[in-house]
Amino acid sequence: MLLRPNQRQKLDDTDDQLFYAYPRFVTHVDDGFIQQLTDLYRDRLKPNTRIIDMMSSWVSHLPEEMEFAHIEGHGLNAEELARNPRLNHYFVQNLNDNPQLPLPDQDFDAVLICVSVQYLQYPEAIFSEIHRILKPGGIAIISFSNRMFFQKAIQAWRDASEVSRVELVKHYFTSVPGFTTPEVIVRQSTMPYFLQLMGIGAGDPFYAVIAYRN
Ligand SMILES: C[S@@+](CC[C@H](N)C(=O)[O-])C[C@H]1O[C@@H](n2cnc3c(N)ncnc32)[C@H](O)[C@@H]1O
Repeated sequence: MLLRPNQRQKLDDTDDQLFYAYPRFVTHVDDGFIQQLTDLYRDRLKPNTRIIDMMSSWVSHLPEEMEFAHIEGHGLNAEELARNPRLNHYFVQNLNDNPQLPLPDQDFDAVLICVSVQYLQYPEAIFSEIHRILKPGGIAIISFSNRMFFQKAIQAWRDASEVSRVELVKHYFTSVPGFTTPEVIVRQSTMPYFLQLMGIGAGDPFYAVIAYRN
């Protein structure tokens, strides 16, 4: 088993839909993180392809100048998703209640999850779905930082170091047959720690774990 039952627990185990009932028109990470993610998307995504932004909100981190054939959105708050300028269509679904995506097999060229993977209680089921909806050769990009709604993150994530969280997401991919060996991109501040403590050069750390469907 990928995670023990206690590792899937959240401090706040009320329905996730209640927590996300009201829209939050905020950004969850800093500009440096978003810039790195947008650059990564620019590098790895192909124009005129089909993308799904899972666990999405009102903001898109896709490069503004890139056009796609279709951008599907998924999240927990319809008001946030309605405000997202890049989505052609969206749906609301609590993945901890129902991990099965209402989407056909091999329908997408890219699956994106940004700063949200820590909220998944059954990641093996979700990553299996990600594999199913990806076309052969399609890419999955899971990005995260060190911020979170602590009470809604699973115990395995809360208890892990940043390095172990990368290992955890790699493990999510390797638990599903048919993904390439996950690739990791890490960008942390290069400023000396004492300067970071003074707020100089201390940005949100950036992690991305990437794999392709074979
Ligand atoms: C920190 S926000 C990140 C939003 C967006 N990806 C971004 O980069 O701004 C976390 C998102 O995870 C999604 N989420 C959290 N728990 C979820 C669940 N149980 N099922 C589906 N989505 C969930 C919510 O839609 C929420 O918008």
